[in-house]
Amino acid sequence: MTDTFIAETPLADTREIIAGLVHPIAHIAPKYFYDARGSMLFEEITELPEYYPTRTERAIMSEHGAKIAQKVGAGGTVIELGAGSCEKARALCELVQPAHFVAVDISAEFLHEAADGLRSACPALDVRVVAADLTAEMPMPADLPRQKRLVYYPGSSIGNFNFPEALNLLERCRHLIDDDGALLIGVDLVKDVAVLEAAYDDAAGVTAAFNLNVLSHVNSLIGSDFDLDQWRHRALFNAVDSRIEMYLEARTKIRVSWPGAQRDFEQGERIHTENSHKYRVDDFTDLLNRAGFRHADIWCDSRHWFACVLARP
Ligand code: AVI
Repeated sequence: MTDTFIAETPLADTREIIAGLVHPIAHIAPKYFYDARGSMLFEEITELPEYYPTRTERAIMSEHGAKIAQKVGAGGTVIELGAGSCEKARALCELVQPAHFVAVDISAEFLHEAADGLRSACPALDVRVVAADLTAEMPMPADLPRQKRLVYYPGSSIGNFNFPEALNLLERCRHLIDDDGALLIGVDLVKDVAVLEAAYDDAAGVTAAFNLNVLSHVNSLIGSDFDLDQWRHRALFNAVDSRIEMYLEARTKIRVSWPGAQRDFEQGERIHTENSHKYRVDDFTDLLNRAGFRHADIWCDSRHWFACVLARP
């Protein structure tokens, strides 16, 4: 059974996971959170009372969406990064009324289903799908018009990249559009540490289950024998780097094995699983500037917890 799973895992993923596990500072890339159970748990996270980003962004968009749509103008192309279920796309397309919509996401299978749903809801919309990892090239369909493109990246997922990676992704967003295009992006802002840490360590333990689930996913991908009961979820705000850091911490001395190798963990030793950067508005507009976006309109909630930014070249 294990062999079957290993055979189906792309070699690059197996190598990447093992390299992370044997690294002196053990780590697993956050993209491995999102197997079927992980995606379901993430949906649950977005509904938690402590996890404010999703509902705050939604509230900003319902209050200011019409103004944003007016600035963008109808009849262009919306390119959504990390489109997932295309749920946010539906709301945006109702506001912006684009002629074309491109859903970009890593999981092609899920994406086709979501795109079909969007086609039924918006029959006049030309819906395309691009299966791509956001850290690499995002090839657009050759016949997609270049004029009036809006790259849409909601959810504050930009925070899951470190600064060089975030800059690189923003630069590639800039290359997807011409001078008449724009980027609409959700950004989570710096706030009280207690609010931040609660958002990533909720009372119901959903974020803990989400974090631990990465070990089950890794077991299925590389044939390792992680026992989830031996690990504890940790979410800590690093004020110097302005980010929540998520870890899995060994409850005891643990040996983890997979075909061909093993790693011993001391009690209290951690595996890093995710960073979630929290920006100051000025720092984020600086980053946008460096990526070639010179103008930014910013809409925030009254507590200044989250920003929706419309950036232009
Ligand atoms: C997907 N991303 C924006 C989430 C975040 O808030 O950084 C992932 C997440 N991790 C734990 N809770 C949510």
